Amino acid sequence: MADRPSRRASVKVEVVPSILSADAGRLADQVAEAERGGADRIQVDVMDGHFVPNLTFGPVVVEAVRRSTRLPIEAHLMVERPELFLEAFVKAGATLIEVQVEATTSLYRTVQTIRELGAGAGVAINPGTSVEDLREILPYVELVNVMTVEPGFGGQKFIPHSPEKIRRVRALSKDIEIEVDGGIDARTAPLVVAAGATVLVAGNSVYGYKGGIAAGIKAIRDALD
Ligand code: DX5
Repeated sequence: MADRPSRRASVKVEVVPSILSADAGRLADQVAEAERGGADRIQVDVMDGHFVPNLTFGPVVVEAVRRSTRLPIEAHLMVERPELFLEAFVKAGATLIEVQVEATTSLYRTVQTIRELGAGAGVAINPGTSVEDLREILPYVELVNVMTVEPGFGGQKFIPHSPEKIRRVRALSKDIEIEVDGGIDARTAPLVVAAGATVLVAGNSVYGYKGGIAAGIKAIRDALD
C-alpha cells in the first residue's frame, strides 16, 4: 500500500464535537444541532470497559449518527484489539477510524485494513505514551490524536504539558492532521493550536455549554480569532 496520500496540514482548524457528553436520549437532535452550529465532523467515543474504565457506544450508534448528519464521522476506538471491529464501524458509516497505539499488537496491519475498507486511518496516543511510538506508523495515517486527558470520561481537566507534546508531534510531520481530545475549550484551544493542533475534539465544552451547542462551538472558534 502506498504511503499516506500527501496532505497539507489543514490551515482551517476543525471543531469536532464528541457525543460522549451529548444527551443520548436526544442524540439525533444533538448531532443535527452541532452540524447547524458549524461543527466540521462528529466524533463517536467508543469505549469497551477494558482499554478504558467506561463502556459507551457500538456500531449501531454510528448508524444513528450517520442518519442524523452529512458531516464526516470519526469513530475513536478506545478499545482493546480494535482490529476486531474495523469492518463493523466502517459499514456503520464511520469515515475515519482512530485506534489507540497502545491497544493492538498489529498496528501497521490494523491501519492498512482501515484504509482497505475505504475509511481514513488515524492513531491516538495516551498522555503517558511517547511521541516516539508514532514514528513508524506516521507515514501511513492521516491523523494523530494527541490525548490531552487520560481517556475514559468527558469533562476532565486538560493536562498542562500537552502543548509541548503537540509541538514534538508537529516536528515529526509538517502535514499530518494533529487532533487533540480532552479538556478542549475556549481557554485551552488557543494553546493547542499555537502548538500545531489542527483538529479540536470538544465534548463537554460544546454539549455542556450553558448557551447551547452552537454557542459552545462559537466560543471555541472566537477564542482562536
Ligand atoms: C476520552 C473521551 C473524551 C471526549 C472529550 O475521555 O474521548 O476525551 O472525547 O471530552 P471533553 O471534551 O468533555 O473533555
